[in-house]
Amino acid sequence: MASDISQKQLSANTERFKNILTATGRPGMDYVLEDIEALGFFEAPASRQGHGSYPGGLVEHSLNVYDAAMDVRADILKRRPDLEKELAEDSVAIAALLHDVCKSNLYRLTKRKRRNEIGTYEEFTEYEIHDELFPIGHGEKSAIMLVGSGLELSDEELLAIRWHMGPWNMSKEDERYYRQSQKNSPLPGLIHVADTIASALLERPATSAQI
Ligand SMILES: [Fe+2]
Ligand SMILES: [Fe+2]
Repeated sequence: MASDISQKQLSANTERFKNILTATGRPGMDYVLEDIEALGFFEAPASRQGHGSYPGGLVEHSLNVYDAAMDVRADILKRRPDLEKELAEDSVAIAALLHDVCKSNLYRLTKRKRRNEIGTYEEFTEYEIHDELFPIGHGEKSAIMLVGSGLELSDEELLAIRWHMGPWNMSKEDERYYRQSQKNSPLPGLIHVADTIASALLERPATSAQI
């Protein structure tokens, strides 16, 4: 697992995250930033035990998705310049940076005990999932939270946030909606690809850290 990030890096990440989103000028953004900060977004991990499983991991992951999405976008536009409008920079920023706001208050550090190598019990902390507060899914939860905060979102941005996990664990009905969302807009595909690049590649543990 990648190591924790410093307080200085966390502050820099938080400032960058807020600056990019504020620069979109999207109505309702101030409310979103207030609401997710109050929920603990900037101290939250990105996952329970996987990528970015440390305080500040979620904002770091969101910025990784944004950087990956902007890189992929630039590359695609070289070959498909006609997609520039559909992959507008502010839409990519909003979908990439806010796709996982559903995790703002999902994980809580809990103390546990385990037996160590010499057989005595030791205390350790790990994240525990607390989805009982608002059990309403993952991508759809992010979309609902953003709309609830008063953010103006296009249909395409909502689709990209809703379907950012791609075709994992889908019912037949969800699969149909997912396929249709891919037809409606190129944005969901870009955000899913960027989320995968961030979590599976950029946030991958260093080779020396793997067993
Ligand atoms: Fe996610
Ligand atoms: Fe993600």
